[in-house]
Amino acid sequence: MDLYIFSIINYNIKGKINIMSKNNSYSINSEQFYHSKLFQKKDFIIIKGKGSILYDDKGNEYIDCETGHAVLNIGHSHPKYIEIIKKQLDDLVMIPPGYPNEVRYKLLKKLSEITPRSLNQTFLSNSGTESIEAAIKLALAVNRDKKKPEIIAFKKAFHGRSLGALNLTFNMRYRKPFLPWLTTNVKFASFGDIESVKKLINENTIAVIIELVQGESGVFPAPYDFARELKELCVEKKLILIDDEVQTGFGRTGKLFAFEHYNIVPDIVCMAKAIAGGLPMGATISSEELFNKMQIGEHFTTFGGNPLVCAAANATIEIIEQENLVENSAKQGNKMLEFLKELAKDDKKLIREVRGKGLMIGVDYRIKVKDLIKKAQEMFLLLLNSGLSTIRILPPLVINDIQVEKVLSVIEKLT
Ligand SMILES: Cc1ncc(COP(=O)(O)O)c(C=O)c1O
Repeated sequence: MDLYIFSIINYNIKGKINIMSKNNSYSINSEQFYHSKLFQKKDFIIIKGKGSILYDDKGNEYIDCETGHAVLNIGHSHPKYIEIIKKQLDDLVMIPPGYPNEVRYKLLKKLSEITPRSLNQTFLSNSGTESIEAAIKLALAVNRDKKKPEIIAFKKAFHGRSLGALNLTFNMRYRKPFLPWLTTNVKFASFGDIESVKKLINENTIAVIIELVQGESGVFPAPYDFARELKELCVEKKLILIDDEVQTGFGRTGKLFAFEHYNIVPDIVCMAKAIAGGLPMGATISSEELFNKMQIGEHFTTFGGNPLVCAAANATIEIIEQENLVENSAKQGNKMLEFLKELAKDDKKLIREVRGKGLMIGVDYRIKVKDLIKKAQEMFLLLLNSGLSTIRILPPLVINDIQVEKVLSVIEKLT
């Protein structure tokens, strides 16, 4: 038999055996057979979500404090969100960005209204990483006269894993295999240390990129004075300040955007995750002045700003506003932070430090947290790690008092 045909048959047989292995139906291991081996899979199957709660196939209810890594700010299956998307599905799913579209217009206008006046034009894409790619290209296009343009990022920063964004991501675990394709034109300063930024600035520096609350490396909010000095430094040295709000945006930190905590206005803001309530969208927002430095065709994406996702984003922002979710994030976040900081005072407990803003909270332990997260799951609370020793609490912003009490009581039991 032809080797090619043989391998297809073999592949199908193996797939069948795997899929049919339990009661002729889907089981936990079925997916592993076909999925690239790049993910550590959970040992339970979620089939439904409502508000802050996820339901598994055995009827168990979990409080979701992972929210797809800070995506579900409006919670799962919000009725208004579903209604708006269903209507848009009937009308028009996809039309390329070159075709004017009213739903897209509404979103672009809204993004301009909810951000400072200078941030008045947006490039829509499909993910956080893409929003960063667009920001990098915009900064480079604005500085096309520079021979060897450099960007300053921060130690412990995370900005994505594509070959552009990966340049700005600090962790060697993500970078190492791809170093031959990474640039040396990114320098890493110490987060919170303005002198370390100053030392890296030279005639080639074009931009600084920052997460005002670092998310992936342990939840570190930037000190207030540092963020303000950074903005002043960028103005003084004519550097573009890029603010990565992919994780912090849309109310997560108790303000609509983290830069509001610091009373600063970045030159470019990158958004994604929560923006479209669970459907994929990225947005890079900046000024007309900067975007005018880019030419038609220098950046593009097929799906970016399609009407379906724009409708989802419009619905998400409307829900955030109408249900005062930013205020709830600040209120519930403060309650949690207060309680957890009190717990951390007890030297006998495992907690070393509690950090965060709003409902973006990191509980730093004296031990690795993998087993603690597993224990929490057994108590029907889904948490996320941030680095090896920090638990990240990222509930939907719709979380209520009773659910917050439950979250805190599980965490108290863990420590
Ligand atoms: C701060 C930050 N920037 C960028 C990204 C990349 O976003 P995405 O996974 O949507 O590409 C992430 C993802 O976790 C993030 O937290």
